[in-house]
Order: sequence, then C-alpha cells, then structure tokens
Amino acid sequence: MKKLNPIHLAIVGHPIKHSLSPLMHSTAAREAGFADDEFSYEKFDVEPQDLATFMRRFRDGPLAGLNVTIPHKMAVMDFLDKIDPTAKTIGAVNTVVKSGDILTGYNTDAYGLIKSVKEIGGIQDLAGKKIFIYGAGGSARAVVSGFIAENVASLTIANRTQNRAVELLSRLAPSAKTIAMGYNDHKTLVESVATADIIVNTTSVGMAGGGDPSGLPPGVEALHEGQTVVDIVYNPLTTAFLATARAKGAGTVDGLWMLIYQGAKAFEIWTGRQFPVMKAREVLLAELGEG
Ligand code: ATR
Repeated sequence: MKKLNPIHLAIVGHPIKHSLSPLMHSTAAREAGFADDEFSYEKFDVEPQDLATFMRRFRDGPLAGLNVTIPHKMAVMDFLDKIDPTAKTIGAVNTVVKSGDILTGYNTDAYGLIKSVKEIGGIQDLAGKKIFIYGAGGSARAVVSGFIAENVASLTIANRTQNRAVELLSRLAPSAKTIAMGYNDHKTLVESVATADIIVNTTSVGMAGGGDPSGLPPGVEALHEGQTVVDIVYNPLTTAFLATARAKGAGTVDGLWMLIYQGAKAFEIWTGRQFPVMKAREVLLAELGEG
C-alpha cells in the first residue's frame, strides 16, 4: 500500500485522562489507511499555568496538530498566528494546525453539533426552525454560533445564571430573533420549550461524575412528539434529559454524535482524508460499555 505522509497529533487539556479522542482518531487513521508508524495521537495533561510552555514546545517540536479542550480553548488563542473566522466568532479554538512556522486555530464544535442535528436528527434544513438552548458556558457559544449561521427563525437561551445568557447573546448574536432568560420565570420557559423545534442541553447537568447526574433541566415536562432533543453530554450516553425526551415521543441525538462529528472535521483538516464516522461510533460505544 502507498505510504501516506506521516502525521503526529495530540490533545491538550486538564484533566485529560478520560478523553476518547486518542481512541477515536487512531481508529480513524487506521481506517483511512495510515500504517501504525505513520500516525500517532497522544494526550497531554497541561495545567493552565503551563500552557505557554507547552505551546512553545509544540511550535518547535514534531507534532503537526492539536486538539484543545477544557480549560484551554480560549487561552490557546494567544499562542496562535492565525484564527479561522468561525473560531474567532465563537471565541474558542479546539483544533490547531501547524503548517511550516504558522499555527492556525479552528473550531469544529459548531460544525459537530450542526452536523449531528442534520444527519442524526434528520433535519437537513435548519432555516426557519425555532431553537431552545440550555446553558451559557463555552459549549453554548459554539452551539449558538452554529445555529445562527444556519439562519434559524428564533433562538432562546435559558441559563441558571441569567446574566451569562444575556451577555452571550449580546456578544454573539444581538438580534431581534434571540432571547435570553433565566430559570426563574418557569411559565415563559415552559412555553418556549413547548414551541421549539430543536432543544439542546449544553450544561453539565446529567453528566456522570458531575454535580447532578440524574438532574433534569427545567421545563422538560413540555417536551413532545415532533421535536428533536439534543444533549452534548455523552457520559452517560442516555442522559436523564434524553430519556425523558424519548418517553415523551421526541426524537433524540446523543452527545457522542457531536464528539464524533467535531473529530471528523478536525481529522479532515489535519489529514485531508475522510473520517469513518460509523466505525468511530462503533469503537466509542464499545469503549463506553454501550456496544
Ligand atoms: P462548558 O465550557 O462545558 O460549557 P462552563 O463554561 O463551565 O462549561 O458552563 C457550564 C454550563 O452548565 C453553564 O451554563 C452552567 O450554568 P451557570 O452559568 O448558571 O453556572 C451550567 N450548569 C452547570 N451546573 C449546573 C447545575 N447544577 N444546574 C444548572 N446549570 C448548571
């Protein structure tokens, strides 16, 4: 078989021990035809105060690209030469490419979410859809940017801390079709959930090992058939939120899809090769004990 240009990559974050990205990308590389000595993907646990040193070594070292995860997605931007417009809008980078001396930052999270909704949720055309999003943290920024770029009809963000939702929208999507709310006005929140076409949880509620693994966001009683409900949490694969949505007849998209599609885009940026989505899904499900 023809030798491919070797490529060596890594993910940097803190903590990083449980990251599924090394398994996902090494599986993809094998499927894409890279021999074992042509591809590697390491993980580096780097604390915030050590990011500058890590990035200096990356610049001078043999790695050709990085994934960047919590808590470095914003901070890493200070150490790059170029930032892709999508990443600039979101204000965070999750993928870095080194080409010669130039480090370029990309963000594939918005792509990952939108692709999941289209391919798995079966909604190819998002124009005119009503979107409801829980949460106003870093993940919500990518999700909001993704939907706004698809020309949705309206977008509501509800967050426990209302101010963060207000600030996120005023910076990212100041428009008459966006609304920020807190969790206190339950009646309005329930109405917004009931009238949405697509509902996305971007908070850590429902995450194993998080503060509230069996927790549900407010207003889930309004979910119903005909809606598409997305969780970005993938551990557990079926969160309490998704289980509730399913019981109410809504369609669901689990968080592993977003992880896979953001990885697919990063892989294509680094290697120029197609990413085997279904194979990655199979391997990751087995790793999570869901295979
Ligand atoms: P990330 O980058 O993963 O989005 P983050 O920026 O820390 O992480 O944001 C976490 C999100 O989960 C926030 O919207 C947070 O709400 P607050 O802004 O009110 O903190 C939300 N969140 C976390 N734990 C929560 C809980 N127990 N109940 C409700 N919302 C919670």
